[in-house]
Amino acid sequence: MYEIACELLKSLDEFEKKYGRTSELLKIQSVFEKFKKNYELLREIKKSNAELKKTYDTTIEGWGKALELRDSETEGHSHGVMDFAVKLAKEMGLNDEEIQIISRGALLHDIGKIGIPNAILLKQDALTEDEQKIMNQHPTFGYEMLKEISYLQPAAAAVYSHHERWDGKGYPQSLKGEKIPLSARIVAVANHWDAHLHDRPNQKAWTREKVIKDLQEKSGKMFDPEIVKVFLGKVIDNEG
Ligand SMILES: [Fe+2]
Ligand SMILES: [Fe+2]
Repeated sequence: MYEIACELLKSLDEFEKKYGRTSELLKIQSVFEKFKKNYELLREIKKSNAELKKTYDTTIEGWGKALELRDSETEGHSHGVMDFAVKLAKEMGLNDEEIQIISRGALLHDIGKIGIPNAILLKQDALTEDEQKIMNQHPTFGYEMLKEISYLQPAAAAVYSHHERWDGKGYPQSLKGEKIPLSARIVAVANHWDAHLHDRPNQKAWTREKVIKDLQEKSGKMFDPEIVKVFLGKVIDNEG
């Protein structure tokens, strides 16, 4: 359309040179000039938006790396959770905007661990009750980090609620069922999958079969049963 408008303006110029300027010609020229200017403006806005989005995503990647530098044993975990959460969101038919929110929430879900002391974060043995209480603050720390950043506010819900449980026995708010934001329910399943498939500071990796069985057992207790069904039926299935 833009190219057509440019061509038409050129033809109108030629017409003006040959036959002189008429009020009708001026009207048509002004309509096409306006169209051309609006189109150029729109193109500039689109370019700026794309650059802004790139800046946002690079900033988030940087934070993810900062966490992985603190906690090298979980290196790759944030990206693993993001990949599975996005696959799950797509299989559930969510739209592009919702998928982007889930992608950012998944990548940053454990970002609050930056605020957990090394003695607890990197401890090889099981945590004591008091240490576990401190560790369980990481969703709140993460939420506090992100809630004031406007472009991350939608993703902050997934960060805050990724350890809530379907039966209401999770933390930090003990939310139950669909009161837990959908993004957080999706990240919770992806997180469980990726975390148990890899070695962690105080637990060896499980086999794929063991994680599948565990997800089946915890469906409807810890996790949204619909999400587990899609995950095991479609996401894992597609993985082969
Ligand atoms: Fe977590
Ligand atoms: Fe995690």
